[in-house]
Amino acid sequence: MKSLCNLLRKIGALSLVSFCLATVPATTQAEYADIVINRQAEKNGMRPVVFPHWFHRIRFRCKVCHAELGFKMRAGSNTITMTDIIEGKFCGACHNNDIAWSPENCDLCHSGKPGLPTGVFGGHETSGPGRW
Ligand code: HEC
Ligand code: HEC
Ligand code: HEC
Repeated sequence: MKSLCNLLRKIGALSLVSFCLATVPATTQAEYADIVINRQAEKNGMRPVVFPHWFHRIRFRCKVCHAELGFKMRAGSNTITMTDIIEGKFCGACHNNDIAWSPENCDLCHSGKPGLPTGVFGGHETSGPGRW
């Protein structure tokens, strides 16, 4: 089943991929979800972070983030500070005004509704900032 779904994705059979999302294990679904990160943000006066996983995973290989940049593969398992980001670690490896827009755009990342807990939300249909 899983390999069939991967094949469908490769050939771009989008209508069938939504069927796959409903039937394959949750970790596969998470690749296409939004991940809310709110371990420290709200405690420090910022709205929760919404990380559109699908938006990134269609542009970069898994290993870029999960090996080279050291993001552990579990929602909420990473301790990420703004100092790290500004120094070019984690999100800041790309959000550096070069590969992608800079860390000054607070609201584009801190776009979650107040009170949202850390976790995986939705399937492949969500679309990043402004939808929360
Ligand atoms: C641009 C960086 C990036 C890329 C590329 C990326 N991920 Fe992730 N991934 C993340 C981040 C960030 C998290 C959330 C970590 C956190 O909350 O601390 C995450 C979380 C996950 C999770 C955990 C979801 C859960 O249920 O807790 C899985 C599984 C995962 N990624 C798999 C993948 C796979 C498979 C690929 C490639 C197809 C991939 N990721 C590509 C950054 C990335
Ligand atoms: C491997 C590089 C990379 C990493 C790491 C990365 N991003 Fe991105 N991100 C991008 C690129 C490229 C874009 C598209 C920028 C553009 O459209 O100008 C983007 C766009 C976004 C968007 C906007 C999505 C949309 O719908 O337009 C958000 C939100 C975002 N990133 C949040 C994050 C957060 C939060 C992290 C860390 C948890 C992170 N990113 C880590 C490369 C990365
Ligand atoms: C590229 C995405 C991104 C941008 C842009 C961004 N942040 Fe963050 N920020 C994060 C992530 C991811 C975390 C970790 C959230 C958590 O664990 O709750 C975080 C955490 C924080 C925290 C709590 C941790 C700490 O370091 O104190 C504060 C405060 C914060 N951000 C403020 C800001 C401000 C102010 C701006 C704009 C100047 C900003 N952020 C821009 C992604 C971003």
